[in-house]
Amino acid sequence: MDTKIIKIDSNNIDSIKLKEAADILKSGGLVAFPTETVYGLGADGLNREASAKIYTAKGRPSDNPLILHISSMKALDDLTEGESLLGKKLAQAFWPGPLTLIFNKSSRVPLTTTGGLNTVAIRMPAHPVAYELIRQSGVYVAAPSANASGRPSPTTALHVIEDMEGRVDMIIDGGKADIGLESTIVDVTGDVPVILRPGFLTLEDIKKVTGEAEYDKSLFQKPTENFKPKAPGMKYRHYAPKGQLTIYEGESGSVIEAINKAAAKKQSEGFKVGIIATDETLKAYKDGIIKTIGTRKDEKTIAGGLFQILREFDTEQADYIFSESFYDNSLGQAIMNRLLKAAGYHIEKV
Ligand code: TXA
Ligand code: MG
Repeated sequence: MDTKIIKIDSNNIDSIKLKEAADILKSGGLVAFPTETVYGLGADGLNREASAKIYTAKGRPSDNPLILHISSMKALDDLTEGESLLGKKLAQAFWPGPLTLIFNKSSRVPLTTTGGLNTVAIRMPAHPVAYELIRQSGVYVAAPSANASGRPSPTTALHVIEDMEGRVDMIIDGGKADIGLESTIVDVTGDVPVILRPGFLTLEDIKKVTGEAEYDKSLFQKPTENFKPKAPGMKYRHYAPKGQLTIYEGESGSVIEAINKAAAKKQSEGFKVGIIATDETLKAYKDGIIKTIGTRKDEKTIAGGLFQILREFDTEQADYIFSESFYDNSLGQAIMNRLLKAAGYHIEKV
């Protein structure tokens, strides 16, 4: 398949180009587009054939449900069943934005879109290109992250091109994704909101609106045979770099010392080594390919740099990657959730 790649400036949206993309969605095709979290791979979410194409393009397991992207609150009447006061409150507080809500689904939503679940994931994105694309297309846009299954989520159009060229009808380049981590997923089908995937909006942000909120108990541990995370996608080894990633946890000096030791050893054995450092520690490392993920002075740079750096170490063909840990800020839960998955939960406490 020929993939058309176009640029759309979010500050000055070209309506002719946008219409072309919207028409593809309307007629059952695939369009990758920027959002404020990561790039999404969109198709008409109520059209079974169209959303089936998403699974093929990504190589995604069919039990992993899709998020439906909407541009107006009225969509909730179409897509959800019953009232969720919690859902309404959170939607009013944070939409459009980096929040996905899980509701009971209406009969209009095909089980092929929800991976057989009776619930449906819904998000209204804030990125102007995403928002306008959904609005113009007039369909509910099912969109997972636009990476090939198992690779880090794409934060630039270049990442999408790497994974999806030849597999989708169109890729819209709208620049770098602002946040760089996928949306916070909150289940609002019960009495208390439950965070199924941590993201830019934190537990505290949610609590400010609803009073109570909690994390899905299974979030920060390694999935096992009989343990099922509530978001089906969270059980897969996501964001996997090709090299083996190990996270070092502890006081900064000890982490640096341990990483230097491990890097020197692997390098002397003839392996290609990568190190995930920060602006603050970059100069403290000696061996291997040393890259900074961002600065600890601004946690957003670390969130925004994570998927990019994992992809860069793939390009470098690093055999071993050693990383500092990043628990120390409000985005820490979201960053470490992704990093732990990427590492296959391989941690060294020093
Ligand atoms: O920021 C984002 O959410 C991006 C952009 C494109 O919007 N999308 C995204 O989609 O990250 P995806 O498919 O990569 O991740 C969706 C996650 C998966 O872990 C999936 O299992 C979970 O949402 N999910 C979808 N429907 C669900 C449901 N009904 N119940 C529980 N989890 C659900
Ligand atoms: Mg994904």
